Amino acid sequence: MSIKTVVIPVAGMGTRFLPATKVISKEMLPILDKPLLHYAIEEAKSIGIKNFIFVTNINNRFPILYLSRNIRLEKHLEQKSNTKVLKAIKSLTIQSKNIKLVLQKNPLGLGDAVLRTKKYIRDDDFAVLLPDDLILGKNCLKELVAVYNKKKSSVIGSMHVNKNEVNKYGIIKGDILNSKTIKVSELVEKPTHKNAPSNLAIVGRYILKNSIFKYLSKINKGSGNEIQLTDAISLSAKYENVFSFRFTGKRYDCGSKLGFLKAQIASALIDPELKKNIRIELNKLYYESK
Ligand code: G1P
Repeated sequence: MSIKTVVIPVAGMGTRFLPATKVISKEMLPILDKPLLHYAIEEAKSIGIKNFIFVTNINNRFPILYLSRNIRLEKHLEQKSNTKVLKAIKSLTIQSKNIKLVLQKNPLGLGDAVLRTKKYIRDDDFAVLLPDDLILGKNCLKELVAVYNKKKSSVIGSMHVNKNEVNKYGIIKGDILNSKTIKVSELVEKPTHKNAPSNLAIVGRYILKNSIFKYLSKINKGSGNEIQLTDAISLSAKYENVFSFRFTGKRYDCGSKLGFLKAQIASALIDPELKKNIRIELNKLYYESK
């Protein structure tokens, strides 16, 4: 069965980016000229995902606005013969029948967000993508789907983190199958340094078997007094195979100011129009600040 649906949670208040996020949601903040949402959609679309489910708060209709056609803008670009931008804009359009908004009024956690999408996903397996986790380079969902196709099991994206950062992530315990793949036995959401079973962390990319809904409805509130997706996957690992895969690309934590800034610079350093000048400018800034 191929993966046709992605769940993209966008209900967060974006408090770390206030005041900007007073009027726009945080996944609309741009890295160079594209919002984080755009990168997320591109990653999913390029592996053949057709259905997009956004779990959103009552004020956030940005995904619909961003993914719908803007006829006036298209006409303007046509008149100006700006075919490159016109093509880019059109390529992102998603038919409204393939977009669903699911309301999450209160921040009850990622597990709660995913559970709310059940009626649209029905019996299918599906992907979850957290747009804050920008992954540049090789398409991470594509790598996970390849493992899912082979193992017919849930697969989560993973990366090594510093021991002093384990309390920011879901942490993985399991048996090493090869340098990239682990058979998961347990997951712990945001453990202390002392309680962490490893320093292998979950990143915001998941391919999930449909059975996850059964486990999500069984678990209680966990870390942060929220329903944690990590806890449901950990429970599922007791009864089914679950794998983690260390992806190839580079991940930027765009939920933090430093990560967001690093993503901007990293993107500029590989951008054909900017890469030469950004090196010169960064060097200048560095020496001027000394
Ligand atoms: C979520 C997950 C966590 C994962 C992290 C990756 O946490 O709950 O397991 O490691 O995303 O970014 P959040 O950052 O939303 O608190």
